[in-house]
Amino acid sequence: MANVGVIGLQWGDEGKGKVIDYLSDFADVIVRFQGGPNAGHTIVANGQKVILHLIPSGILRENKYCVIGNGVVLDPAVLEQEITELKKLGFIKDDKKFLISGLAHVIMPYHKKLDALKESKGTKKIGTTGRGIGPAYEDKSSRLGIRVIDLLDRKVFTEKVKQNLEIKNYVIKKYYKDEGFKPRQVIKDYSQYVKLLRKYTADSVSFLHKCLDRKKAILFEGAQGTYLDIDHGTYPYVTSSNTMSGNMSCGSGLPPTSIDRIVGITKAYTMRVGEGPFPTELAGPEGELMRKIGDEFGATTGRPRRCGWFDAVIVKRAVKLNGVTGLALMKLDVLDTFEKINVCVAYKIGKRLYSQPPMDIQDYYRCEPQYEQLDGWNRSIRGVKKYEDLPENAKKYLKRLEELTGARIDIISTGPERESTIILRNPFSS
Ligand code: GDP
Ligand code: IMO
Ligand code: MG
Repeated sequence: MANVGVIGLQWGDEGKGKVIDYLSDFADVIVRFQGGPNAGHTIVANGQKVILHLIPSGILRENKYCVIGNGVVLDPAVLEQEITELKKLGFIKDDKKFLISGLAHVIMPYHKKLDALKESKGTKKIGTTGRGIGPAYEDKSSRLGIRVIDLLDRKVFTEKVKQNLEIKNYVIKKYYKDEGFKPRQVIKDYSQYVKLLRKYTADSVSFLHKCLDRKKAILFEGAQGTYLDIDHGTYPYVTSSNTMSGNMSCGSGLPPTSIDRIVGITKAYTMRVGEGPFPTELAGPEGELMRKIGDEFGATTGRPRRCGWFDAVIVKRAVKLNGVTGLALMKLDVLDTFEKINVCVAYKIGKRLYSQPPMDIQDYYRCEPQYEQLDGWNRSIRGVKKYEDLPENAKKYLKRLEELTGARIDIISTGPERESTIILRNPFSS
């Protein structure tokens, strides 16, 4: 059995949740390796819609192990809520099959406050999800962070909270002129999560290595997308972790050589939420129509998502950055009613044509997308399960995307439901 990674190739919300849920059926273990509750992964199964922020999307499948890896930043309040809701729906039947790395960092109340303050009073608004992600990763990098294992040790936790609040309160009060936090209150508030966390906290690295030795099939669940990556995304309009396949190893503790296949997830068009450049954005009625048909509203914040044509320049680069072995092409049905479909094949900046995304964020804003136009198919493909049942123009569109991105399409999605899926090649089979 192969080990498979799933990665978003655009600006997040590509449909990773649906693909991970689908592929989980063939996996033994599903592991999240980065990000935190900024993610919103939607699954529609058995007529039920579930949105997961922290817990791996494999949790809806029975008898699978789900792991929150060391690279994740975890908000215990979100975790508690998610576990409660999932249990109410009849999931997480066996608590032993859900593991949280003791090395994962904890999102603290001051992280959330600093995230909000930076966004409202800072100079550069990023349009974050407001979940405290940036400040939590800042603390991790500056070696001030509090890990799950620290939270479970009252003495260590107390010391760390006090040490952190000396600095955080100074910044919040002096710089942002806002109200600080009382260490005792923070310690008390977070102590209520200790019991819950103790139940699931484990040495996930040893566990995953055991799975590897026993040739279990492991599925790595990416969050966000390649252009939100802190190094390779549209910096500074990015998230605060490495979202790409390269981080599957660091964020889980499994070696890079253990990952056999990388499924790159992309929509049949493009969207992003929050600030930042978006060369193929359709600001007018066509973008509005895409948002309406695609129901493009954030799964975490409810914000309207910005929509535009498929951008082959960024997806082609993302295929290379992540070592994509096959694409999952999502939401093809959203293009059903478009007479003509544009695909961006290059950028023009000034008088020059570019086939790669620019390094300079200012150039990103100046990009004029160069489009190739294809004919639409003008009929509903919603729920189609067989490639042969797709209209010829839809097949032509898919073929052209394969040529332009340099990757073959292995999975096609024609609706949000589990069943609305065309599998050309299963990445788990050899
Ligand atoms: P993720 O963050 O990558 O998991 O994606 P989100 O869950 O945030 O957003 C994807 C949205 O598209 C969700 O509402 C899904 O239910 C929906 N979706 C996924 N695949 C399809 C599809 O093929 N067609 C349609 N119409 N909706 C889809
Ligand atoms: P999933 O896993 C789409 C975006 C935010 C903002 C930027 C930084 O569901 O695809 P952050 O809160 O991370 O500091 O925000 O990143 N963002 C996402 N956009 N999907 C996501 O996750 C996202 N997670 C963060 O909108 O622009
Ligand atoms: Mg999402």
